[in-house]
Amino acid sequence: MSKVDVFVVGGGGREHAIVKKLSESPRCGKLYAAPGNAGIARLAKCLPVAATDLDGVVAAARELGVGCVFVAPDDPLAMGLVDRLTAAGIRAFGPTAAAAEIEGSKVFAKNLMKKYGIPTAAYEVFSDPDEAAAYVKGAGKYPVVVKADGLALGKGAIIAQDYEEAARAIDSIMREKAFGRSGDRIVVEEYLTGPELTVLAFTDGRTVVPMVSAQDHKKVYDGDRGPNTGGMGAIAPSPHFTPELAERCTREIFIPTIEAMRAEGRVFKGVIYFQMMIAKDGPKVIEYNARFGDPEAQVVLPLMKADLIDVMDAVIDGRLDEIKIEWDSRTAVCVCMASAGYPGKYEKGFPIFGLDDVSGEDIYVYHAGTAEKDGKIVTAGGRVLGVTALGATLKEARAKAYAGVAKIKFEGAHYRADIGRV
Ligand code: AMP
Ligand code: GLY
Repeated sequence: MSKVDVFVVGGGGREHAIVKKLSESPRCGKLYAAPGNAGIARLAKCLPVAATDLDGVVAAARELGVGCVFVAPDDPLAMGLVDRLTAAGIRAFGPTAAAAEIEGSKVFAKNLMKKYGIPTAAYEVFSDPDEAAAYVKGAGKYPVVVKADGLALGKGAIIAQDYEEAARAIDSIMREKAFGRSGDRIVVEEYLTGPELTVLAFTDGRTVVPMVSAQDHKKVYDGDRGPNTGGMGAIAPSPHFTPELAERCTREIFIPTIEAMRAEGRVFKGVIYFQMMIAKDGPKVIEYNARFGDPEAQVVLPLMKADLIDVMDAVIDGRLDEIKIEWDSRTAVCVCMASAGYPGKYEKGFPIFGLDDVSGEDIYVYHAGTAEKDGKIVTAGGRVLGVTALGATLKEARAKAYAGVAKIKFEGAHYRADIGRV
């Protein structure tokens, strides 16, 4: 069996979950990460190279002679890291910049769905704030959703309850440039209601293999209150994702999306993320991501029985139809612990206690924003870590995850107490 050295780009909880899964493969050779974090450092050699330093990553990958680079975060994908690696003759897992535009531009994604008849909320695109405001006033339907076109750290969608709020959102995105150039254009979209869930899928551009479904908890406080975060916790599978719904999503959304991308000359290879709302008249796409979600990866990957290196190879080589990916039938719950102040301003550098007290077969602590200082593990980001537990039922997995969380302490730590109480 040939061993493969793998280099993972990124340094959050998602990347820790990817590195851990790769490390469990009998084919796994040396592991590297850039920039990694204190948890990843236990499994991989971490390099002081930023995920967005494309030259640095390409140079490091070449120097190390790795067998494959796994590009996990959105920014380097949108910037074309996979294209750069491929051009340098280095195998890379992830979509090209042209394919990653499905996440990088909401205008592109919405127009793609319209052109290929993929169900999504009705919308209009604007590049002029006055025209956008006039349209909202004329339509007179609230709530209305205002979205920045480009990447905005998951904070670019604003649900406005009335005209004043919509006008403020338009001003903040388009005139004050709250998200920089991401706000040059906006999408104004119909407000949908219904359960929300995510399906991640592996695809080689032809075959699409959905993973177990997941549900993120984006709001910072219990009961889905407060501002949006990158995700305060997740569960997998989602109890809303019935086999009938799975069949319908595959037929109406997953396959048509992969075929649309191919027809547009933007063959998508890697992990595609379908965030959907199950409206009364059926599932609709809220957004696409061009990568694993964070913290969705921390609940989905622990349930995957297949070897991630085999899957990675099959995706890159266009042989996904040849492999079988099986899933654990249990439920996974991940509870994220965050720094005081997150998702706003926060301080770093507080020591984390109790990490070694959480151990066992069905529980694992994924590090997100952590670093090592004088031999101690300290906080180094907004989301600090995520405790994932597996259980025969959602209730059992929740209880286990929260028992783990209760053992970990750091100054100002906060987390939601209702992850998985769907
Ligand atoms: P996004 O940045 O597109 O993922 O949106 C962030 C959150 O806003 C989503 O997770 C949804 O809960 C909500 N959202 C986005 N679009 C809509 C919509 N058209 N209708 C209702 N809620 C939405
Ligand atoms: N948890 C949402 C995301 O990764 O975009």
